[in-house]
Amino acid sequence: MTGWIWIVLAVFGGLFAAKMAYALSVAVVLPRTRGALYVSTSRVRIRALLDAVPMARQQVLVDLGCGDGRVLSEARKRYGVRAVGYELNPLAFIRAKLKTIGCNGIDVRFQDFWKSDLSEADVLFCYLFPDVLKPLAEKIGTDVKPGAIVVSANFAIPDLVPNQVLRPGSSLHNDPIYIYKIYNMQGKPKGSDTPI
Ligand SMILES: C[S@@+](CC[C@H](N)C(=O)[O-])C[C@H]1O[C@@H](n2cnc3c(N)ncnc32)[C@H](O)[C@@H]1O
Repeated sequence: MTGWIWIVLAVFGGLFAAKMAYALSVAVVLPRTRGALYVSTSRVRIRALLDAVPMARQQVLVDLGCGDGRVLSEARKRYGVRAVGYELNPLAFIRAKLKTIGCNGIDVRFQDFWKSDLSEADVLFCYLFPDVLKPLAEKIGTDVKPGAIVVSANFAIPDLVPNQVLRPGSSLHNDPIYIYKIYNMQGKPKGSDTPI
């Protein structure tokens, strides 16, 4: 009987410790992530966006706030692209690093993406919150090369017109995914109605 009590205590203790580690890791970086929490995109949604955005092996996918690195891994697995992720949350960063050990072509950086140059991206993915997307639109305008694709999960990027809006079929995962092709018109990014 006492054996069971120890098992239950160990399970609840483990869950509590995991929750605390999550809360702490989010709290530490909150001022720098401007409220963007560490929440992962579901596999169903990642598959849907990869279906919609075919990539060539020599291309580079960048995930701004890569969480546990799942978008990087899936893109690398599917298309053989080089995948670069920026992450500030220490827990997410460690998970991403552990999950991608030995994976050539995946580069997870413990770095603030606002301080990075996004010009290497052929495909730029983000799952960030609306407060962040307004300044991100400006950074896209200055950094991202013409012809690159930007994918924003759940929230539209202000001032850009999406070329496509996906709604993955499953009722649990059908929040919109916005896809933009970036053209450089007098330095101002703009989506277009032409298909990707
Ligand atoms: C909603 S999660 C998305 C995780 C992953 N992209 C996915 O879709 O599964 C957003 C992540 O962005 C990270 N983040 C937010 N602002 C950042 C910044 N300025 N530099 C690096 N990472 C950032 C957060 O720590 C968080 O893990």
